[in-house]
Amino acid sequence: MARILTGIQSSGRQHLGNILGAILPAIELANEPSNDAYLFIADLHSLTTVKDATARRENLLTTAAAWLACGLDVNKVVFYAQSDLPECTELTWYLNCFTPFPMLANAHSFKDKAANLADVNAGLFDYPVLMASDILLYDADIVPVGKDQKQHLEMTRDMAKALNHQTGQSVLVVPEPRIDSSVMTIPGTDGKKMSKSYGNVIDIFLPEKQLKKQVMSINTDSKALDEVKDPDICTVVQLYALLATAEDLAEMQENYRSGGYGYGHAKKALLDLLLSRFADERKRFDHFMANPDTVYAALKVGADRARPVAKATLARVREALGY
Ligand code: ADP
Ligand code: TRP
Repeated sequence: MARILTGIQSSGRQHLGNILGAILPAIELANEPSNDAYLFIADLHSLTTVKDATARRENLLTTAAAWLACGLDVNKVVFYAQSDLPECTELTWYLNCFTPFPMLANAHSFKDKAANLADVNAGLFDYPVLMASDILLYDADIVPVGKDQKQHLEMTRDMAKALNHQTGQSVLVVPEPRIDSSVMTIPGTDGKKMSKSYGNVIDIFLPEKQLKKQVMSINTDSKALDEVKDPDICTVVQLYALLATAEDLAEMQENYRSGGYGYGHAKKALLDLLLSRFADERKRFDHFMANPDTVYAALKVGADRARPVAKATLARVREALGY
């Protein structure tokens, strides 16, 4: 049984790109019987950039509700909020003392953030150590992450090896990253990568009227209804292709090529498909948002399952370090 663990940033509402690119693949991986899966919301990491308490609570709730609405089963997956297990902050301290300063100073993501953010705080600098602690605290064997997190995983391995070497014991499990480069990039309404930071998202959990507005705002060229159109360069078709049956997609492509079919028709077809494909997820999301206590109760079940593992790891580390 391999222990798979990954962290979810809680930086805002989850969009179609997050759902197709991260949530559904992670749930599928977690459901494989040979995996023992830990998924958590990295709400301590979020303090590096989000300082407002109301925004943080809202982000935790909408992120957890989105994962639960997409079918995460808390009986199979250990699903928790990072901040419910402060053990990870204690382990962060121990790991800090095994982390060379230049390793953090030269990290790509820190250099990037330091160059672009107004608030360059020590939390941003130490971000990789808290992330290593998230992983090592739970004896993770495999950590599925995007390419941008590869360096953080290399640092995690270095920290685990340094502590094991110093203490002469196998105190920490050295994890392997799993980087799936085949995950496709979902385009946003402007045709660029869909991202919370670009204001180009499709948020399938919005009420129908607002979702419709987002779908109708997808950029197209200005060809008139009766003109022939190229389906291969159209964002509406690209998004439709992600969810439609082969038959329905072929029909839309044919409509584009024959003329007499406008972008408004295609957008309406995409909207209908989103509404039908995600009907259950939308209902469940609304239910969770109306009953936040059920979300917090789900996270508590996860925290209660994760805690003994965290405590056992910390006990090993403390003992090995002479505390
Ligand atoms: P955002 O760019 O909206 O801030 P994040 O960086 O928080 O998204 O990404 C969370 C997860 O969702 C990551 O695993 C990331 O790879 C995935 N993801 C985000 N946007 C897309 C997209 N447009 N297409 C595919 N996957 C995406
Ligand atoms: N840094 C990760 C990201 O930006 C989120 C994260 C925090 C994480 N802790 C983790 C991912 C532990 C994997 C394992 O996406």
